[in-house]
Amino acid sequence: MIKFIEPYFIIETKSLSYAIKILETGHLEHLYFGDKILETDLDFLHTKLSAKARGVIDYLEEKGKDIPLDLICLEFSSSGKGDFKLSPIELKMPDQSFVSDFTYQKHEMIEGILPSDTLPTPYDDEKNTKTLIITLKDTKFNIYIDLIYTTYYDVNIISRKTIIRNNEKETISLRKIMSMSFDIYGSNYDMLTLDGGAIKEAQKHITPIAQGTYINSSITGNSSYKHNPGVILLEKGTHEDFGNCYGFNLIYSGNHYTAIDQSSHGILRVMQGINPSMFEWDLNTNTSFETPTTVLSFSSKGLNDLSHHMHDFINKHIIPRQFKGVDRPIVINSWEGFYFDFNEKKLINLAKKAKSLGIELFVLDDGWFSSRNNDLSGLGDYDVNFKKLKHGLRGLSHKIHQMGMKFGLWFEPEMINPVSKLYEKHPEYAIKIEGRIPALGRHQLVLDMINPLVRKYIINEISKIIDDTNLDYIKWDMNRDMTDMYSKHIPNQGMFYHSYILGLYDVLSQLRKKYPHILIETCASGGNRFDLGMLTYGPQIWTSDNTDPIARLSIQKGISYFYPQSCISNHVSMSPHEQTLRKTPIDTRFNVSMFGVLGYELDFKLLNTFEINSIKKHIEIYKSYRHILQFGQFYRFNEDPKVRMNFQVSFEDTHVLGNYQVLAEPNPNLEILKIKNLNPTKIYDLKSMEQKLPLEKFGHLISHALPIKLNPNKALFRLISRFKQLDNATEEAHISGNVGMKGYKMQQQFMGTYYNEQTRMLGDFGSQIYIIKESR
Ligand code: GLA
Repeated sequence: MIKFIEPYFIIETKSLSYAIKILETGHLEHLYFGDKILETDLDFLHTKLSAKARGVIDYLEEKGKDIPLDLICLEFSSSGKGDFKLSPIELKMPDQSFVSDFTYQKHEMIEGILPSDTLPTPYDDEKNTKTLIITLKDTKFNIYIDLIYTTYYDVNIISRKTIIRNNEKETISLRKIMSMSFDIYGSNYDMLTLDGGAIKEAQKHITPIAQGTYINSSITGNSSYKHNPGVILLEKGTHEDFGNCYGFNLIYSGNHYTAIDQSSHGILRVMQGINPSMFEWDLNTNTSFETPTTVLSFSSKGLNDLSHHMHDFINKHIIPRQFKGVDRPIVINSWEGFYFDFNEKKLINLAKKAKSLGIELFVLDDGWFSSRNNDLSGLGDYDVNFKKLKHGLRGLSHKIHQMGMKFGLWFEPEMINPVSKLYEKHPEYAIKIEGRIPALGRHQLVLDMINPLVRKYIINEISKIIDDTNLDYIKWDMNRDMTDMYSKHIPNQGMFYHSYILGLYDVLSQLRKKYPHILIETCASGGNRFDLGMLTYGPQIWTSDNTDPIARLSIQKGISYFYPQSCISNHVSMSPHEQTLRKTPIDTRFNVSMFGVLGYELDFKLLNTFEINSIKKHIEIYKSYRHILQFGQFYRFNEDPKVRMNFQVSFEDTHVLGNYQVLAEPNPNLEILKIKNLNPTKIYDLKSMEQKLPLEKFGHLISHALPIKLNPNKALFRLISRFKQLDNATEEAHISGNVGMKGYKMQQQFMGTYYNEQTRMLGDFGSQIYIIKESR
């Protein structure tokens, strides 16, 4: 899996190779990252330098060492020695210069993964990983860099991180240190990033790369919904099922940074790590600094295949091992149904109804503590609001448990309202700067997680509640970005952001260790911290506060480039939707939410009988395909997302396909359903899920479908619609894998003519689920 054939290193996964060469100067040349290569290829993968180039600088004049570093694909560069591509490090050296020059000193190979005391690190239960540590030394000073490569053989992932050690007498200032960097030839690439904001997370963007530097980063103190840390570098023309693409993601929840820099000779350097902006770390004598881990993969078969590598890696090596492959419960969450306005009776009624529909976990969201009747006060306090919960949390959790449901609670542990008991007692716990009025976000300040007393307070308070309620689940929220960054507990404020994240990881690790059984779902106003760091503590993340299914299509699709369905928490909520005012059918709300971890966030009392019955049926369906929907292989399609979208999951011989019509077209084309990942030689049964059409969908047009005349504004219409719904076309077919993949000819969709039971009535926001199973 890792070979050293002097002067070459080859790191291999099941289908990928990564190759490095030690140059005569001791610098590392990046030779290759892609589909498997042969050892004989190695001699031919290096940069051929017979003509050099105008304007380049040779490293040394000596024969063999007269290399222009700017013309070489390097594995990790230094600063100020002739490589003018963007540098992965910035160090103020003991001689006060910014010049460094790191060359090969030694290497070591170890079984497994190099552990870390402070940062989230993947694990390996299958004993299928190996690690290579290449040590570089600065040519002048006793400063060392370890480049650490781990291969996760089966899942086609290589991880990288960097450790820098200062063995000089002086403290040096570290201003930038990337977890990884490497160079490839390439002037034909695009960059795929997930950008957005609150309630519009993870929108896919493709940026063409030309000469210059392209950056994807966050500066909010979290990994941010503005720019997710995941980045894909793709050759032009690459799509979901075709083409060469490289994927990178950082196991980190703070300010991240990925840069793609195209040099004047068409060398592409890609690097990823902690954002160097406002970063300055004092590296004292005989200490080291460890970067977070970057996850790398490649596919020559397009973006779906690349995502599968990322997904398998997360399911097998990232999420807490006690949840590996374990089906996640269906949730009812109190937030969108009640917000702050609830009492024990309301909650119990909600739970009872949820239980009768088949829901398994009851989550009480914000508003259960202290003076919390709106978002103006109470964060930081953990005393229960007895006005709302007359038997306290213990009483409530007891009743929920008695019903046979699991019990979960919302916390926002990293925050404090200036109006709170905690703030009265410990104003110094909040992050702020003396002499400046701190900026508030949602009326709250951030707690200083660098302060050990704050961390202790949080752990103690949460532990008391867990013990008191026998808690099964925690929603760990974080609802504001950071400002006024300052902590008394660090010597240099350039250490602030990273130290905050280390503090957060410390708290999460301690709680994780103490309560391994608790299912943690992390959240940050939705997906403001959807990253691999958080996933090492909680296996699922609240994807977005936007639960409108049509808005969700692009959010869930975006997130799926890097994260598997088992991590994506989706809730069915009310229509019209509170974020978009859009009216959508209950079937579509389920049909979108089912691709991930399903939940409900509404007051059932506001639903009609048709919707309640539909929910009951949906939950039954979800339960029978839950493992496939959470852990199956997910496929995206090449489509115009403004008109129609599809999602598919495959698990062994079963495939579930969601077909969503975003906007109805007049007199549309006849359609085919292209199913992915079928065996061409096998026969499949295809069946669409039965769906009913409420009469309201037709309004005054109902006279076209029913033999009687009904006025949609009259009580009789409403009365009949409680009992009578129309059939929507279902499809059943027996097809070969080949035909399914080429495209099954679907039943006709409504064409503006008339209704019958064989016509798919979709309209705007309509959708259908297809189950495709190998025939027995
Ligand atoms: C954030 C979360 C929501 C909900 C509220 C509660 O907005 O994203 O899901 O928990 O906080 O205040």
